[in-house]
Amino acid sequence: MSEDRFDFGKNWESYARLIDAEKIAKAEDGLGAFLGTRDLSGRTFLDIGCGSGLHSLAALRFGAQEIVAIDVDPYSVSTARAVLERLWTGANKSVRHISVFDLGQQPLGEFDIVYSWGVLHHTGDMNRAIEIAARHVKPGGLFAVALYGKTRYCGIWKKIKRWYVNASPEKQARAERLYIRLFGFYMLLRGKRLSTHIANYKKKRGMDFYHDVRDWIGGYPYESIAPEELNRLLAPLGFDLVKQNVRRRSGLFGSGNDEYLFRKQSGKN
Ligand SMILES: C[S@@+](CC[C@H](N)C(=O)[O-])C[C@H]1O[C@@H](n2cnc3c(N)ncnc32)[C@H](O)[C@@H]1O
Repeated sequence: MSEDRFDFGKNWESYARLIDAEKIAKAEDGLGAFLGTRDLSGRTFLDIGCGSGLHSLAALRFGAQEIVAIDVDPYSVSTARAVLERLWTGANKSVRHISVFDLGQQPLGEFDIVYSWGVLHHTGDMNRAIEIAARHVKPGGLFAVALYGKTRYCGIWKKIKRWYVNASPEKQARAERLYIRLFGFYMLLRGKRLSTHIANYKKKRGMDFYHDVRDWIGGYPYESIAPEELNRLLAPLGFDLVKQNVRRRSGLFGSGNDEYLFRKQSGKN
């Protein structure tokens, strides 16, 4: 991978060792709440930037007819392949090593659901990535996308992330420890305990606190978007917003992913 790009895949490879029945159940809860259903029978599902493959697995467990998972990072691809091989025996799955930007050249076609959680803001050209992803939704289908929200600290975090991806492993580890210490202090000031936060963290889509800290500090390239900007991009492509989960955050310890569910109008190609 290029110097100025976080090694997402290695982090997912390490995280995937922690996947157990509870994490799968939480991933299902997260996906079900986002899509508003746990029944995907007869529907095709494209997972752009699949990471560990856990949410593709959840889609399969919800009865998706076929899932295609893609990722630009070879370690994410090998990890997602291994996770799906281990936990799903059906042949209705494939994991491909493709960037979202190369989707136009690959004859993948259109899908009932295009899902991309926490990905398109890490591509280096978020708006173009959003448009390409959206073009793979069938008329009448869903575009389920989660993107970093805009906060007053986005500029500072962009610089920190850029520094992190070029830093030595020792400096990266020190930065992660410092972040966790400061975050723990911030929690204390708000009358909360870091240990409880860490213990409950898997409720967040089956994720793991320590891997998400690394993913947050390192996640570069980095962009963020406001709801009205996303609407302005997708409305001309024939998308109507079904629902959004946009939270106000200070942004001091992270931009946080805002979830948006759009439906492509039936008459739109
Ligand atoms: C923060 S992770 C999210 C993983 C997964 N969607 C999840 O929710 O757990 C971002 C993923 O996007 C992938 N990614 C980044 N740029 C990409 C691109 N241009 N095309 C496809 N995947 C990309 C990274 O390799 C990484 O696996």
